[in-house]
Amino acid sequence: MRVFLTGATGFIGSRIVPELLAAGHQVLGLTRSEAGARSLAAAGAEPHRGDIEDLDSLRDGAAKSDAVIHTAFDHNFSNFVANCEKDKRVIEALGDALAGSDRLLIITSGVGMGSAEHGQPAREDVFNTDHANPRILSELTGAAMAEKGVKVSVVRLPQVHDTVKQGLITPLIEQTRAKGVSAYLGEGRNRWSAAHVLDVARLYRLALDKQEAGVRYNAVAEEGISMREIAEVIGGGLNVPVVSLPQEEAADHFGWLSIFAAMDLPASSEWTRAHLGWQPTGPGLIADLELMDYSQAAAA
Ligand SMILES: NC(=O)c1ccc[n+]([C@@H]2O[C@H](COP(=O)([O-])OP(=O)(O)OC[C@H]3O[C@@H](n4cnc5c(N)ncnc54)[C@H](OP(=O)(O)O)[C@@H]3O)[C@@H](O)[C@H]2O)c1
Repeated sequence: MRVFLTGATGFIGSRIVPELLAAGHQVLGLTRSEAGARSLAAAGAEPHRGDIEDLDSLRDGAAKSDAVIHTAFDHNFSNFVANCEKDKRVIEALGDALAGSDRLLIITSGVGMGSAEHGQPAREDVFNTDHANPRILSELTGAAMAEKGVKVSVVRLPQVHDTVKQGLITPLIEQTRAKGVSAYLGEGRNRWSAAHVLDVARLYRLALDKQEAGVRYNAVAEEGISMREIAEVIGGGLNVPVVSLPQEEAADHFGWLSIFAAMDLPASSEWTRAHLGWQPTGPGLIADLELMDYSQAAAA
């Protein structure tokens, strides 16, 4: 199958490329830059020059392919709401190009969208349309495109990690370095789920091969790691004290991350594992954080 992969040069997308190629697929990878095009060609993919702001480039890539996996996103968090609206336009453009065909569009979301009740693990069969995270727009748009007859499935992600990057924990580490203390809120019992980046890449490929629309997959290897445990390993890595803060100090300490730092976000992947035969094997989040080179992280 010829697969149009947006975000092909990104942290996760660059791991999806070899996964797809090894399974016998061809990859048309979106990138904005010459350097991105060179790295895609070196990896064995066909570069497709374009941008998530250039909807024609997206329609063109989708039109040339048998399926689309969409992982591009502008991660400038100071513009998060606008960037979620940008993602809506991207999903609409990709969906428009696929409408009326049986070609699958796989979009990306967060596991939190499947959280039914505070403290309960998020599940694949739940879509909490009242979720406070503006990123909900990606899934709402996917659902709107499905109503228009587009074959859409959703991969929901937790903190995706290796020994260099770990989702929201990467900016948390930089914040911890700047503040000189590694903090958690209250008893630090609230949890974040996680998965290794290679397990996540394999899940996208399995979802592609399954060719099923109208489903949501939770790419979760670890259901919930407490914020206290995360703060302790970061504190050890940076050699700074680990402290508990009251909720009132969350905004001051965590800045834009405070909304996430307070969230209890456990997530299950029971259904995904059974449905796709997905078995995560990668190292856990704490193991990757223990092996990280914190001096290199400072330079990144
Ligand atoms: N990493 C995680 O832990 C995590 C957790 C939850 C959800 N997610 C979601 O998973 C998806 C993949 O995440 P990732 O960590 O792999 O992302 P990433 O490393 O930041 O990669 C983003 C990709 O988007 C592309 N892009 C195209 N146009 C862009 C623009 N105008 N501005 C910025 N980037 C642009 C970039 O490609 P070029 O620079 O080559 O153009 C890049 O390949 C995203 O939807 C993300 O929100 C990730």
